[in-house]
Amino acid sequence: MNFQNKNVVVTGANGGMGQVITKRFLEEGAKVAALDLYVDEIEKWENDYPDHLIAISANLTKEKEVKEAVGKATDSLGHISVLLNTLGIAQSATPIDEVEFSDWDRLMAVNTTSLFLISKEVVKGMKEQGAGVITNVASIAAERPRPGLNAYVTSKGGALAFTKALAIELAEYKIRVNAINPGPSDTSMLGKFSPEGGDVDQVKEDTFKKSVPLGELVTPEDIAEAAMYLSSDGARMVTGSVLNVDGGRGL
Ligand SMILES: NC(=O)c1ccc[n+]([C@@H]2O[C@H](COP(=O)([O-])OP(=O)(O)OC[C@H]3O[C@@H](n4cnc5c(N)ncnc54)[C@H](O)[C@@H]3O)[C@@H](O)[C@H]2O)c1
Repeated sequence: MNFQNKNVVVTGANGGMGQVITKRFLEEGAKVAALDLYVDEIEKWENDYPDHLIAISANLTKEKEVKEAVGKATDSLGHISVLLNTLGIAQSATPIDEVEFSDWDRLMAVNTTSLFLISKEVVKGMKEQGAGVITNVASIAAERPRPGLNAYVTSKGGALAFTKALAIELAEYKIRVNAINPGPSDTSMLGKFSPEGGDVDQVKEDTFKKSVPLGELVTPEDIAEAAMYLSSDGARMVTGSVLNVDGGRGL
């Protein structure tokens, strides 16, 4: 895979999967704008990748901040050819009659609405170029839900539906749009799915690991591998697809 001359925007770049994906793109020669609410980890590498990495702090649920962030990315790198959305938040398992509206709303904003806001900005340039690739990290939970993750599951279902809606709409511009469904992945997010006050390590071991037929948690590297493939020319005829990287959890 060769990402020389590719300009990439990674969202959620400071997170467990986002950091590994950002590094992979840089190692493959891409220029990367790394967007996140927090960019402290990314900023540590800026000197290692001169002219190839820009860290941009933004709340990607806010239309104005998204516009400014994409503007900065484009000014710094040039036109954006690849968008890789990993941003997201978890929901701690909560019975539906106890879910606060504000929590529901925030999950929708971060996990679904942000995809609309950033796609809207990035697609403008991709249409002009007649090329582009967008990949959204959703979740296998959207297809095989877990009790109490009502808002999270719905928000990720929205991400999958949005992916397919854009894939058909943007095919005529040669813009491909796909999704990755990770299974339980060994990042700090995983612990946040347990009920408030639950023992995180025990839930990881007893619930999540055991739910994966291949018997291991997914790693950020597994997700990065799928992200590289879908973003590459090797996947030139792949659009509207959902790639489950879940160790069989969805079966
Ligand atoms: N970890 C898992 O078990 C798992 C399983 C299935 C799907 N996923 C999905 O994979 C993706 C990556 O998850 P992760 O495990 O790396 O989580 P993570 O919490 O490590 O990373 C998520 C990143 O998103 C950023 N973010 C949150 N809200 C934001 C906002 N409003 N604006 C900008 N950035 C924001 C966070 O700051 C964080 O850096 C998420 O979409 C998650 O839902 C994770």
